[in-house]
Amino acid sequence: MSSSTKISVALDSRSYNIEYLAAIADLRTRLSPVTGHAIALIDANVDRLYGKAFRKALPHVEFLRIAAGERSKSFLSLEKTANALVKAGATRASRLIAIGGGVVGDLTGFLAGVFMRGIPFVQVPTTLLAMVDSSVGGKTAVNLASGKNLVGVFHQPQAVFVIPSLLETLPPRELKCGLSEAIKTALIADASLVLAMENHSYDARRFDLDFLTNLSAAAIRIKADIVAKDEKEENIRAYLNFGHTLAHAIEAATHYRDVLHGEAVAVGQRFAALLSRRLGLLSPSDEARIQALLKKYQLPIRLGDVIRTQTGSRAVTPPKLLELMRSDKKNQSNAIRFVLLSAIGRAELPRPVADKELLASLKEFLLLA
Ligand code: GLY
Repeated sequence: MSSSTKISVALDSRSYNIEYLAAIADLRTRLSPVTGHAIALIDANVDRLYGKAFRKALPHVEFLRIAAGERSKSFLSLEKTANALVKAGATRASRLIAIGGGVVGDLTGFLAGVFMRGIPFVQVPTTLLAMVDSSVGGKTAVNLASGKNLVGVFHQPQAVFVIPSLLETLPPRELKCGLSEAIKTALIADASLVLAMENHSYDARRFDLDFLTNLSAAAIRIKADIVAKDEKEENIRAYLNFGHTLAHAIEAATHYRDVLHGEAVAVGQRFAALLSRRLGLLSPSDEARIQALLKKYQLPIRLGDVIRTQTGSRAVTPPKLLELMRSDKKNQSNAIRFVLLSAIGRAELPRPVADKELLASLKEFLLLA
């Protein structure tokens, strides 16, 4: 894998490339002034670490800081940022550049989708999770008090620039969240990538640029292929929600604090594997491989790793998780739907699972050692 890697998302007139760059300075030639008025929305933490380098590479671009954290994915922040864009002279001919993780990417994408009825935008993801998942595919949204990502649009970026060397300063917990999404992508579509992750000698204390570059590119290739076939999630794009039904319930139960998305997704994948096995789709040996893989990358795999499950006022019980899973976007009518696996590397379209089975599965899950 070289830093000149290019992966394309084939969507007719909305096709674009995900391009790998060795350094921030390489953005200069990719986003030159001839492409017109541009405003970058930059995560405050990223600005502190790399703001100077980004400004040097993009001297013609105006920078607006976005507070780090999920609270920036709100209508309040959307309105504030839209007003700041107007003040900065943005017009229908302007374009936005998202520099940050999923929060900045989703906020910028949504704003670009609706500002003056839609302007172009570019993604420069700075977290592993944003590189492998949220910056690719054009899903954008803000949160409501009643749930995450409940208001948004599909708006594809014009380009995505991945600079893997930025990951060197990413906190280990955040890096692991990206690994969780990369594992998900491999599990749903690519048994050979799962094998490669199983065989890799992972050492959390060592920054392994080659590994992260290769892994992210492999995951992006899979996602690009899925999005090209099903942009609006009418069928196979739903595979990418593997592990997310329980994950969203865990995040809601913890009020989107304490537990990071990728951590909740790791526990959700472990549960979806258990459910797949209980329903006779997945072999016990594949289930064990999934558990071992998540463990190898030091991800949480038990409910008790991320939420309080013992008795007490803050304990989250199986019926409570069931109730939270019922508000998932994938559901139709009252049935809770799950993406399950029939083998490592093979996902099945979402299917309803009966409450009784889910309760029994959650109880078994709670007993896992
Ligand atoms: N994050 C799932 C998707 O983009 O479809």
